[in-house]
Amino acid sequence: MPEEIRIGIVTVSDRASRGEYEDRGGPAIREYLDEILTTPWVGVPRVIADEQAQIEATLCELSDQQRCCLIVTTGGTGPSVRDVTPEATEAVSEKVMPGFGELMRKMSLEKVPTAILSRQTAGIRGSCLIVNLPGQPKAIRECLDAVFPAIPYCIDLIGGPYLEADPQHIVVFRPKRPRPGISW
Ligand code: MTE
Repeated sequence: MPEEIRIGIVTVSDRASRGEYEDRGGPAIREYLDEILTTPWVGVPRVIADEQAQIEATLCELSDQQRCCLIVTTGGTGPSVRDVTPEATEAVSEKVMPGFGELMRKMSLEKVPTAILSRQTAGIRGSCLIVNLPGQPKAIRECLDAVFPAIPYCIDLIGGPYLEADPQHIVVFRPKRPRPGISW
């Protein structure tokens, strides 16, 4: 039996973690992934405060214990004192993947001038790709549309499972590798 594909969905927000408002970012990520992924997957959600130690511990738990191949965070990427999601991501990553943040900011700038305020990044921890998104629920689609075409191949390269998406929504790009089991 192939291992279940698990994706971590982490909302980083002081107020959502205290229950002062409803988490809208986590459900928006789940809805987006449900729409585009044709491979069956299981979401592992977390709603946590803007505390660097807690964010780091959650990212480690989701990658190391929960065996997530992908973790998508939302929130805590801006310039405010409490915004520390990129710092936590970089601290737990063996490799930082700056291209993700660069592309998301470039695409987001076409929608909103304040896109430059997001320090969102991405990183690799073991066989897990961690991607930061801003906290605005509408930013989730704007950012994931930009970077998702490269995510399945990135997960292939780090030894994760083979993710497939609905080409009606997202055309995944794999430069060389065939699907496992198919010889070219
Ligand atoms: N990117 C997109 N695509 N859409 C947005 O609405 N909001 C910006 C920016 N990036 C936004 C965006 C704003 S206003 C801020 S302050 C930063 O993301 C950081 O947001 P965060 O601290 O909630 O992560």
